[in-house]
Amino acid sequence: MSTDEKSGSYIEFKDVSKAFGDNRVLDHVSFSVMPGETVCILGRSGVGKSVSLMNIMGFLKPDSGRVIVAHEDITDYGEEDLERIRKKVTIVFQNGALFDSLTVGENVAFPLRERRQLSEEQIYQIVDGLLDMVGVKEMRDQLPSDLSTGMKRSVAIARALAAQPECVLYDEPTTMVDPLMAQLLGDLIKRLKIQLHLTSVVVTHDMRLAKKLADRVVFLHEARALFFGTHSEMERCDEPIVQEFLRLDEPGITASIEVNTTSDNGPADKDRPTS
Ligand SMILES: Nc1ncnc2c1ncn2[C@@H]1O[C@H](COP(=O)(O)OP(=O)(O)OP(=O)(O)O)[C@@H](O)[C@H]1O
Ligand SMILES: [Mg+2]
Repeated sequence: MSTDEKSGSYIEFKDVSKAFGDNRVLDHVSFSVMPGETVCILGRSGVGKSVSLMNIMGFLKPDSGRVIVAHEDITDYGEEDLERIRKKVTIVFQNGALFDSLTVGENVAFPLRERRQLSEEQIYQIVDGLLDMVGVKEMRDQLPSDLSTGMKRSVAIARALAAQPECVLYDEPTTMVDPLMAQLLGDLIKRLKIQLHLTSVVVTHDMRLAKKLADRVVFLHEARALFFGTHSEMERCDEPIVQEFLRLDEPGITASIEVNTTSDNGPADKDRPTS
């Protein structure tokens, strides 16, 4: 049985556990994402947010539990089936993962050339439309190294959309960008959800972004999903760590937390040449 028609979830973690040696990262974590819904995964650094996304993409397998993606149980899937799923579900990595030696336009054209029989003229038009949609049309002939971190993220989002996915996973879309760019990226993700009816999973520790985007929030803490529900349900959650995160929504606090949290990754991510 590979479908998950019963619950109708587009993505579902059913009791997912994952450890690396003695490091128990996810311990019986369950949550679901309905079609068209945006779910934010919140939690402190190292809590397993990116590992959760890797399990959705099938790059990592759970030790136990089931992972449903695009209504299919992918837990035991091999590469061929996973490739099929990855045509529907795509990920925007924190560093953008753009090709250094290709221009912005060529980066976005890449999935179009790979997947479809399109003329050069058609590709040009689609790339133009996508770059316009994410607000970096004038950067078309630049190399990724010429762009700011925020612009690289916008280009990475355009490239992800070029594959016409049903679902986009975003890993920390607003980390390491200034507050204005963070707001623009948040607005962009929200607009795409509405215009393209995308199902989205957004990993973040940016409480303001979560408030703006999330239909529901998963809060990971000490390997468990401590909370799963709407923002207003989260406000009523009496877990102290959840309340602490909610207070980060206050202006002026998020910025300092971002600096602290991202420094755990070292400076390597900041404006690291994309690969
Ligand atoms: N491939 C791997 N092999 C071994 N350990 C790993 C691997 N991937 C992640 N981990 C470990 O799993 C834990 C969770 O990592 P993860 O990257 O999911 O954290 P995160 O919540 O995304 O943190 P951040 O906010 O810093 O990005 C960390 O302790 C990390 O060292
Ligand atoms: Mg991460």
